[in-house]
Amino acid sequence: MRLDGKTAIITGAARGLGRACAVAFAREGADLVLLDVCADLPGVSYPLGSASQLEHTADLCRERGAAVLTRQADVRDLPALRQAVDAAHGWSGRIDVLVNNAGIATPSGTPTDEITEDEWQLMIDVDLSGAWRATAAVGKIMTAQRSGSIINVASTAGLVGYRHFAGYVAAKHGVIGLTKAAALDFAPVKVRVNALCPGSVRDDPAVEGRMLAEIARSLRVPDGEHEAAFVQSQPMNALIEPADVAEAAVWLASDGSRQVTGSVVTVDGGFTAR
Ligand SMILES: NC(=O)c1ccc[n+]([C@@H]2O[C@H](COP(=O)([O-])OP(=O)(O)OC[C@H]3O[C@@H](n4cnc5c(N)ncnc54)[C@H](O)[C@@H]3O)[C@@H](O)[C@H]2O)c1
Repeated sequence: MRLDGKTAIITGAARGLGRACAVAFAREGADLVLLDVCADLPGVSYPLGSASQLEHTADLCRERGAAVLTRQADVRDLPALRQAVDAAHGWSGRIDVLVNNAGIATPSGTPTDEITEDEWQLMIDVDLSGAWRATAAVGKIMTAQRSGSIINVASTAGLVGYRHFAGYVAAKHGVIGLTKAAALDFAPVKVRVNALCPGSVRDDPAVEGRMLAEIARSLRVPDGEHEAAFVQSQPMNALIEPADVAEAAVWLASDGSRQVTGSVVTVDGGFTAR
């Protein structure tokens, strides 16, 4: 039980990698505060997580013995995040881990000079500024505790470019910059900040993930062909499983990584090794 006694907040927990992390954290003994927007966002071309999906994640965690608090919160809304974090702190008395996982993959699929300003702002607002806002909301609590682990779910798109994904790539590169700067700010108070960079993750029905399919759709890859298309570019000839990413998150959340901060951990089957 590597997370016994710890309380973790996970954003974007209704489905996908957020759900995979939540379930893995519960299995390792953590109590959980699960946040999600639970609504569709104007400008995002696919449905986001729902309130019933968030409750399903919570049920899966409770089945594994975790105490769970759920809250609807948009990472674009700093007051809402502060309220959720304060409620979590009141509920648990501590916040040991924050996983900044909430993210959107579109609007994407257009050349850099054809992105509208609204599309650009939306992507940066959710995928980069959202991570900063949640970090700001937990900062004082973790500083007072003199302990904490913040895990920023970036992407291989935080390390290399992808054609027709300038907004997402810029946001995820920004997340890595945020990670390094925040790691230095928090190091004196023993709060660690690391980035986790998954490669192409299979949309596992068990967690109802859908980002890979949506990325493929925005690149006009025909439905049903996208997994094979993504596998072709993987040195290990396989897509990443959500559980692989969750396992790395458990390690970053645990005391086993106590000297690891400001790091970028890739779970990409060697994609960025080339
Ligand atoms: N799936 C992949 O292949 C992949 C690869 C690399 C990185 N990532 C990153 O992993 C994270 C999770 O992606 P996923 O694959 O699970 O996607 P997903 O779309 O399946 O899940 C994302 C969750 O985030 C929530 N969310 C979106 N915008 C939000 C907002 N403004 N406020 C609060 N919650 C919000 C959604 O409702 C949804 O439940 C994202 O940051 C993504 O960029 C995914």
